[in-house]
Amino acid sequence: MNQNELKTILARLPLGDVRYFDTIGSTNSEALAWATSGARDLSLVIADEQTAGRGRLDRKWFTPPGTALAFSLILRLTDREKPYLTRIVGLAALAVADSLKTRGLVAQIKWPNDVLLNGRKVAGILVESVWSGEEVDCVVIGIGINVLKGAVPSPELLLFPAASLEEALGPAVEREEILHDVLAGIIALRPHIGTDSFLASWEKALAFRGEQVQVEDGNGTPVAGKLLGLEPDGSLRLTTEDNNSVTVRFGDVRLRPRA
Ligand code: BTN
Repeated sequence: MNQNELKTILARLPLGDVRYFDTIGSTNSEALAWATSGARDLSLVIADEQTAGRGRLDRKWFTPPGTALAFSLILRLTDREKPYLTRIVGLAALAVADSLKTRGLVAQIKWPNDVLLNGRKVAGILVESVWSGEEVDCVVIGIGINVLKGAVPSPELLLFPAASLEEALGPAVEREEILHDVLAGIIALRPHIGTDSFLASWEKALAFRGEQVQVEDGNGTPVAGKLLGLEPDGSLRLTTEDNNSVTVRFGDVRLRPRA
């Protein structure tokens, strides 16, 4: 990654402090430790390579050098933002999706934390929190984006088909510019996180809306139904075949296989 260009581009944003690493275990682990020891709001950890990148549900996340974006942004939540902790993943997902839409791409959010391009995953989000007793203090928003083709793991390692931005935008795609746009998007959307229009935009960007899906809840129990939208806290709203309304808090959306 071109560090001079990175500095120039990031100077256009009202960030806290920035830590850059050529290689690191996980930017989220670094950011969590930093947040715990008092990092300023909007401090950023960014790495060219991760050797122990983490995804949701203890999955591995691959970040080979020179190919991807892997970064973690620390938000020190205000008292007004704290009630909307469960919307933070939507904030990040919308900012990534919007940065792709401005490049003429059709990006969708696979609830809760993936961004898809033409039905294939190009980005994943891992939100982790730092608590002060019963109250959330900071969140770390970890974002991984497959920018070049080399960032996409081989198919046997994948649970869901993946793609890179290079496939849609060509090899001239600029990591630094995408990083800037995603961060700028988070900063711009943040004041609106508690609004109905934020929820409506998040819902509108959902993949598989109106389609039959299968969701595994936090215990791995499958729930099948038509994907309707989101609850105010960001939970997924479905109707089952027997017309019951179900909400799923944490899960992994899968398109239901045809019978
Ligand atoms: C997922 O798809 O389950 C989420 C993947 C999140 C990956 C990013 S890369 C930057 C940050 N550091 C990590 O270790 N994970 C997140």
